[in-house]
Amino acid sequence: MCGIVAYIGTRPARPLLIEGLKRLEYRGYDSAGVAVLDPSTKPAKIQLAKAVGRVGNLEERLEGTTWQGTVGIAHTRWASHGGVTETNAHPHTDDHAGIALIHNGIIENYSVLRKYLEQKGHTFVSETDTEVLTMLIGELYDPANGVDLEAAVQGALREVTGAYAIAVICKQEPDVIVAARKGSPLIVGIGNGEYIVASDPQAIIAHTAQAMTLDDYNVVKITRDGFRTSTIDNVEVTPKVLELESELDEIDLGGYEHYMQKEIFEQPAALRNTLRGRLDMKDGRVVLGGVSAFAKDLVRARRFIMIAQGTALHAAMVAEYLFEELARMPTECEYASEFRYRNPIVDEGTVVVAVSQSGETADTLAALNEAQDRGALSLGVVNVVGSTIARETDAGVYLRVGPEIGVASTKAFTGQLAVLTMLSLFLARRKLMSPEAAAKLQDELADIPNKIEHALGLAPEIKQITERYIQHENWLFLGRGVNYPVALEGALKLKEISYIHAEGMPVAEMTHGPIALINDGMPVVFIANQGAQYDKVLNNIAEVRARGGHVIAVATEGDRHIRTMAEDVIYVPPCSEALSPMLTVVPLQLMAYYAAVARGHDVDKPRNLAKSVTIE
Ligand code: AGP
Ligand code: GLU
Repeated sequence: MCGIVAYIGTRPARPLLIEGLKRLEYRGYDSAGVAVLDPSTKPAKIQLAKAVGRVGNLEERLEGTTWQGTVGIAHTRWASHGGVTETNAHPHTDDHAGIALIHNGIIENYSVLRKYLEQKGHTFVSETDTEVLTMLIGELYDPANGVDLEAAVQGALREVTGAYAIAVICKQEPDVIVAARKGSPLIVGIGNGEYIVASDPQAIIAHTAQAMTLDDYNVVKITRDGFRTSTIDNVEVTPKVLELESELDEIDLGGYEHYMQKEIFEQPAALRNTLRGRLDMKDGRVVLGGVSAFAKDLVRARRFIMIAQGTALHAAMVAEYLFEELARMPTECEYASEFRYRNPIVDEGTVVVAVSQSGETADTLAALNEAQDRGALSLGVVNVVGSTIARETDAGVYLRVGPEIGVASTKAFTGQLAVLTMLSLFLARRKLMSPEAAAKLQDELADIPNKIEHALGLAPEIKQITERYIQHENWLFLGRGVNYPVALEGALKLKEISYIHAEGMPVAEMTHGPIALINDGMPVVFIANQGAQYDKVLNNIAEVRARGGHVIAVATEGDRHIRTMAEDVIYVPPCSEALSPMLTVVPLQLMAYYAAVARGHDVDKPRNLAKSVTIE
C-alpha cells in the first residue's frame, strides 16, 4: 500500500527518486520521504527529508538544497501503524549503525521485537512497525565480526513475521543497497551501471526495460557492478529476469485531466487489446493460450470458486452468472478475505480463480494460497504482468488493458468482464454450447468495444444529469441478474471518489428494508436495460417514484417507454444480456467521475485509499 523506490548508479539519486515517487504516488500518498548517502565524508552522511502530504510537499521541503549522492531510497506512505506524521514517515533510521530503510508492508511481531530492542537500550522515535525492523538491522550490524549490511538484513528478516518489501542503505557501506521482499511487491530495474528498485514498473520504465523479480524471502545486495541474490538463510538463488512491457506513454496523462478519466475513455482500445487474437468465430472456440494446457481439467471440474476484493469481486460476481448460465458450471464467488479464514471446503475438482488488477492484493493472494494448499487447481485473471498472483497461479489469462493508475478501477473492471466472459465461453463451447451459438456470442463480444465507444459519446449528457444530483448525500443503485453486481460497482465508484454514501443491491431487495430510506428527491439509479427481468424492474421503478425518489435509468437504446417512468434516462446500445455489464457500467463510472470533479475532489487519489491493498 505504498510506493518504494531506491537507486544506485552514477547519476545524482535525488531527482530520480522524486520522479519515481511521483510515478508511484498512486500507491499511497499520505506522506513521503527520501534519503541519499553523501559520500563526501567517511563514513558517509545520510541526507534525509520527509514531509506530510503529497510528494509535491517533499519537493518544496527540498527547495534550495542540492544533494549530489548517487545512492538513495524514497517512500510514499499509506500509514498502517502510527498516524500520518513526519516522524512516522519513511525512511526510518536506526540509532547507532547509520542505517536508513523504507518499507511496504506490516511487521506483525513488531511489539515483541520493540520490547526486546528497548531492553537492549534502543530508543524509538516513531510509532511504526517499520522503525523496529530498522533498529533490529542496526542491532545485528557488526562488520568487524563479518555481519555486513546484507547479513544483518538477512538476520533481521529471519526474526520477523508479516509482509515486507524493503530497501536499506548504510552510511558505513556507501556503495551498497540491500533490498528484500516477502508478500509485498518489489522489482529491480537493471540499467547500464545503475539499478532501480521499485514497487512496480512505473518507476523503472523511463530508465530501463530490463528487470528482475524476487521471490518471497529473497534478499538482493546491489552495487554499481552487479548484484547477488540469496534467501534470508543466505542460500544463493538465481533471479528471474524479464522485459517490462509497459510503454512510457501508457502511464502519462496524454491530454486528460485525470487518470481515471483517461482510463474510462480508453476502454474501447483497452478491450480491443484484451480480445485481440483470442476470439475464433469459425468454430466458436476462444483461444486462451494461458489456460489451454489445462482445458481438460477445467471442463471436468466440479465447481469453480472465484476470490477477489472490491471491484474485482464485482467482476467475479458477474462471472458467477455467466459460468452457470452459459457453461452450466457450478460457481461461487467470495470475498478473498472471508474465504481465507473460514476453513473453506475445497475438494478435488475445485478450480479457484483469483481475480485481481494488481495481482498483489494481500487477501486475494492469501486466499489463493489457502485453496492451493487444499489441492485446488488455480487460475489467475490478472492485469499486472509478472505480479505475485500471476506467478503463483497454475495458469491464467492476462487482462492486457495496460497500466491502471487511477485508484478507482475502471478499465480493469471491463477487462476482467471480457476475460471472464471468454473463460465462460471456453468452458461452454467444450461442454455444451453449439459452435453457432458460441460464434454468435463471440461476434457480439468483438463488437463490445465499439458499443462502449458509443456509450462514452453520452459523457456530456451524463455530466449534466450527475451535476443535478450531487448535493444529495445518499444514493441507491439497483440492478437484477448480471446487472446486480454492476449496481454494486456503481455504488462503490461513487463512494470511493465522491464520498457520497451509496448502496448497491438487487432490485427486489429494496422492498425488504432499504425502501424506508427513500425520501423526496433521493437519487435512485436503476440498471433497466432490456433483459429477462425488464418488466419487474419497471414495477420497482414505479415503487420508488411513488415514494418521491428520483429515478435515473440506464436503459437500452430505442426504449421509449422508460422515458415515461424515469426522470432521467441514459441509453446504452442493445446487446445480449450476458454481455451487458460491460456497457451498463460505463455511465456509472462517468457519473462517479463527474460527481467527484464537481465536488472538487482529487479523483485519482481519493482520501484514505491507495491503489493496491497489500496488507490485510
Ligand atoms: C476499486 O475501485 C478499488 N479501488 C478496489 O476495490 C480494488 O478493486 C480492490 O482493492 C482489488 O484490487 P485488485 O484488483 O488489484 O486485487
Ligand atoms: N507499516 C508501515 C507504516 O505504517 C508501512 C505501510 C505501507 O506499506 O505503506 O509505516
